[in-house]
Amino acid sequence: MTGKPDPTVMTASALPSEIGRIVSGIQPSGKLHLGNYMGALRNWIELQDRYECFYFIADWHALSTNYEHTGSLRTNIREMLIDWISLGLDPAKSAIFLQSDVREHAELYLLFGMITPVSWLLRNPTYKDQQEQIENRDLAMYGFLGYPVLQTADILMYRADHVPIGADQLPHLELAREIVRRFHHLYGPVIPEPLPLLTRTPKLPGLDGRKMSKSYGNCIFISDSAEVVWDKLRTMVTDPQRVRRKDPGNPDVCPVFDLHKVFTDEPTRKLIDSGCRSAGIGCIECKGYLKENVEVLLGETRKRRSEIESDSAFLEKVLREGAQKARSEAKKTLAIVRDAMKLPQEGLS
Ligand code: TRP
Ligand code: SF4
Repeated sequence: MTGKPDPTVMTASALPSEIGRIVSGIQPSGKLHLGNYMGALRNWIELQDRYECFYFIADWHALSTNYEHTGSLRTNIREMLIDWISLGLDPAKSAIFLQSDVREHAELYLLFGMITPVSWLLRNPTYKDQQEQIENRDLAMYGFLGYPVLQTADILMYRADHVPIGADQLPHLELAREIVRRFHHLYGPVIPEPLPLLTRTPKLPGLDGRKMSKSYGNCIFISDSAEVVWDKLRTMVTDPQRVRRKDPGNPDVCPVFDLHKVFTDEPTRKLIDSGCRSAGIGCIECKGYLKENVEVLLGETRKRRSEIESDSAFLEKVLREGAQKARSEAKKTLAIVRDAMKLPQEGLS
């Protein structure tokens, strides 16, 4: 049976030990925020201690929607790399690299493009959704349509068995699985079918109570200073019914409390919950506790950031060595693929 992968949420700590290889990527769209950390990076960091991980900055994917605005690409790549390493992604444990540094991705993408029916790509929900959502940009492009084919190449290139992703990426992974099955049908079973590793994403509201997202301008960034974090939290929306200090509040409808659910331990959270309902604590006090807990993560991150952010030689070295490691696997995969397809490896050989 080759049905859909079981979309049950697997937390990293519940993973079976026979999992071998992990691959994932993120588009370099600028600074990471707390939502990105909770949704992806936290999981990646946990995985790197137990598996062989390949993590890359998907700069070619960024072109599919930003081909007109390439001016900030290099800065965005650098910022993302700094965010990753300061959060704890460790180049000694994982291969950390830039997608376009491993040009083999382009070759595999081309080969997969030969066997991917256009109808599969047209029915990809992201293709339609994004065209409607993203205004002022013409996304009726071949590259944008082929986005999932490139993503398939990214994954199969490392013969990964698991791909940690958010639920929004499930259709892409399903397509990758369909493409690999078609490849097997045509040329033989030579690459494993990857499975999604769904990140359990807690509800992470932004400062205005909507989902934390760059496009809403409601983010706390990983690189924010302690002062900026406090300024943002201080003015963050709370239970709208709680107007005065003496009014009791309701944590169930308060986005600040949703952040406590992620950053604050349970006993403290219980105290805050009852303090809020009885008007025993005020919102500023409540936000002060939150700030302290957020700072446990961000303070540590800031320290590492200050050590690496201006060390261009170090950052270059991380990407160079990451690409070397990735390339050596990529070359092996391409040799396998060309062989299965009976293509020349080079010249007449
Ligand atoms: N499409 C992913 C996103 O937008 C990024 C991505 C590109 C990716 N290639 C990948 C994720 C391969 C996992 C595996 O977030
Ligand atoms: Fe929200 Fe905390 Fe204020 Fe209660 S005390 S309304 S949980 S910010």
